[in-house]
Amino acid sequence: MYFKEGVPRRAVAEGRMPASPSRPVGPCSLGKRDLYIRNLFSSIAPRIDALSSLFSLGICNFWRRRLVELAQVQPAERILDVCTGTGNMVFLIAENVDSAGSVNGVDFCEAMIAIASEKARRWNRRHAGRVAFSCQDAKALDFRDGTFDVVSVAFGMRNITDTARALREIRRVLKQDGRFVCLELTRPEPPWFLSLYRFYLFRVIPYVARLVTKLDGPYRYLPKSIYGFYSVAEFQQVIEAAGFSQVRVHPMTWGVATAYEARR
Ligand SMILES: C[S@@+](CC[C@H](N)C(=O)[O-])C[C@H]1O[C@@H](n2cnc3c(N)ncnc32)[C@H](O)[C@@H]1O
Repeated sequence: MYFKEGVPRRAVAEGRMPASPSRPVGPCSLGKRDLYIRNLFSSIAPRIDALSSLFSLGICNFWRRRLVELAQVQPAERILDVCTGTGNMVFLIAENVDSAGSVNGVDFCEAMIAIASEKARRWNRRHAGRVAFSCQDAKALDFRDGTFDVVSVAFGMRNITDTARALREIRRVLKQDGRFVCLELTRPEPPWFLSLYRFYLFRVIPYVARLVTKLDGPYRYLPKSIYGFYSVAEFQQVIEAAGFSQVRVHPMTWGVATAYEARR
């Protein structure tokens, strides 16, 4: 059995990962699949917040808040949010940080970072905690080893073309004993709910999204990305294989989303 990026499951579980990434890595080092993902997100960047709220019936904000609770952010800490999109997690986390702390958001999609940076200009005028965004690939983060107290990723991991490599980067930039929190859309368990969920995910969402955005790709990709990613138990193993400890999982809303927490 192989992961989607072609890494044998057993090799990862046993810790025999590919060599560490070379840095710094700019956009020109992105692979074909990365460019496809990035274009897809560029095409929906201006509407992604509204569509996420609509399709999750507003529950995505509750899930994000739950992730922030799990992160147990302290006022003076340094936080990094990877695959930040338009920065939703960053602003939620920043509510818990004072002028001694900071929250950075990174994403490899310039259209997303442009929206997030515009929000940040307004935020930094009114609040003490510093918020900043930059364009970066999750697989080659441009930060020194041991920089952050917490790294978060919300709805991002399943889009990254090399999960193991991104996890190793996240671990590298965390301080000793730093915390990793991750939120991901997952496949729900209860059989009575599953057929309803699949109909909604594979039929209703792409249909409505096409009407609203006039685009076919992004919301056909969504269900495939959820079903193409690891199960909760597998992803827990992958996180452990990347060197994290105390990995815990928190299923939410019948398992439609799952929060993961771990220590470096
Ligand atoms: C569903 S969106 C982000 C949602 C955002 N975290 C939130 O909570 O609203 C997923 C994001 O992952 C980003 N992404 C995918 N692969 C990436 C990579 N290798 N490096 C950085 N960002 C990536 C996409 O550009 C996209 O903005």
